[in-house]
Amino acid sequence: MSADSLFRPLASEDHTVHIEFEGRLLTVPAEVSLAAALLACGIRHTRESAINGRPGAPYCMMGACFECLVEVDGQANAQACLVPVRSGMRVRRQRGAACLAPWQEGGDE
Ligand code: FES
Repeated sequence: MSADSLFRPLASEDHTVHIEFEGRLLTVPAEVSLAAALLACGIRHTRESAINGRPGAPYCMMGACFECLVEVDGQANAQACLVPVRSGMRVRRQRGAACLAPWQEGGDE
């Protein structure tokens, strides 16, 4: 069984934008979701489970499964399948549970 991605970009090569993923500069199709752009570049590991650390990747592509959570420009919990890709985005894998509120960062004090 082939491990090649089933996803093919619809945008022409001259209609692309540049984003950063985990410090890597990527040229991705424009006018698609961030999840589609990452998959088109062969990125299949976009987050790590908060429960067991297992890698996760976009699954439903319609905002239902939350498997595509990433950090965009320092902001956690972005559903990559619902976020349009835009030039200059800095994207990181979401690792574990994201802090939901500033008072949770320091624990009990
Ligand atoms: S891929 Fe399921 S919510 Fe984004």
